[in-house]
Amino acid sequence: MEPEIPFNKPARLGTELERLRIALEGQTSGGGPFGKRCEEKLRELLGCPALLVTSATHALEMCALLLEVGPGDEVILPSFTFVSCANAFLLRGAKILFADCDLSGNIDPAEVARLLTPRTRAVMPMHYAGYCCDLKALRDAAGKVPIVEDAAQAICASFEGQPLGTFGSCAAISFHETKNISCGEGGALVLRDAALVERAEILRDKGTNRRRFLEGLVDKYTWVDLGSSYALSDLNAAWLSLQLEESARIQARRLQLLERYFAELSEPFEHAGASIVRGRPGCSGNGHLFAAVFRAPEERTRFIAHMRAQGIATPFHYVALHTSTMGRKIHRGRPLPLSERLSLCLVRLPLYFNLTDAEQERVISVARQFLRAC
Ligand SMILES: Cc1ncc(COP(=O)(O)O)c(C=O)c1O
Repeated sequence: MEPEIPFNKPARLGTELERLRIALEGQTSGGGPFGKRCEEKLRELLGCPALLVTSATHALEMCALLLEVGPGDEVILPSFTFVSCANAFLLRGAKILFADCDLSGNIDPAEVARLLTPRTRAVMPMHYAGYCCDLKALRDAAGKVPIVEDAAQAICASFEGQPLGTFGSCAAISFHETKNISCGEGGALVLRDAALVERAEILRDKGTNRRRFLEGLVDKYTWVDLGSSYALSDLNAAWLSLQLEESARIQARRLQLLERYFAELSEPFEHAGASIVRGRPGCSGNGHLFAAVFRAPEERTRFIAHMRAQGIATPFHYVALHTSTMGRKIHRGRPLPLSERLSLCLVRLPLYFNLTDAEQERVISVARQFLRAC
């Protein structure tokens, strides 16, 4: 049975159908007018080029191709993250080294320093909950090794005033329906390194120079490189353009909901021995999620069951990759205690643009019932 208050609902702004109607009358494949509008808006938000693609997963695969990562290369990424981070580089034949994180779910730069070898070809932080690790320390640890940011959850978040997704050579943002700004499935490849843009356009267009041909920059449209079909349909882009244009309104509501959870639930969770996921100083978050980390897995299980019995979905998050079926085949067995802890003890509360004050009130009061009894 569907919970009465789900964990997530994509933002509904009211004028989606009008956008889709306009899109249906024009070009519906990738590179259409709505796609261009989205890319302009992303450039405005990020201050650097971003290509619209089919998913953050594909943006990460493009990062691996752009950096020419291959067999014999090593890539360092957190264990507490989404599978696409590892797959993108495994698909190129690289070796994955899993790093531990801190209690905010972000990679620990000291781990990166420890795992770095002359074969390291990329370091990939994942900005958990729209927060980040100490990016200065990460840059120091990585040295000349390129940083690829998994900013899937981090649109409109920043660190010391600079948007997340613009610290590394390239980054991936997700517009999956679980993200703040969404269009069902979609993503963006952010390219702070402008030298990568031309090749990225070719990779996105099946390895052809079609974009340059359409812009009149070359007189022939041909196969020039590796590539795949990574362009987002203009139907998805139409929906996305609306969300991007309304991003300030979406963010403001999400941040308001998050602040209320902080104000009303921090003390009860902490009283129950749980910690709250928060950003480090310098982080300006995007209200992506409210998460708490219990002391023990059994407490989390009981909390989820209590909330579910009252019709409220409060899911856990990533299974630490090094403990997964696939991860165990490639990890040498070193324990990663904080990743394991978050994997087993973290829980998230409903947080989405259209969550009403009354619904949030109910989530808070049902959570308090449980926490009071701890
Ligand atoms: C941290 C992280 N990276 C990557 C992805 C993949 O995003 P997409 O579904 O757009 O491929 C997700 C999706 O949930 C994610 O949470």
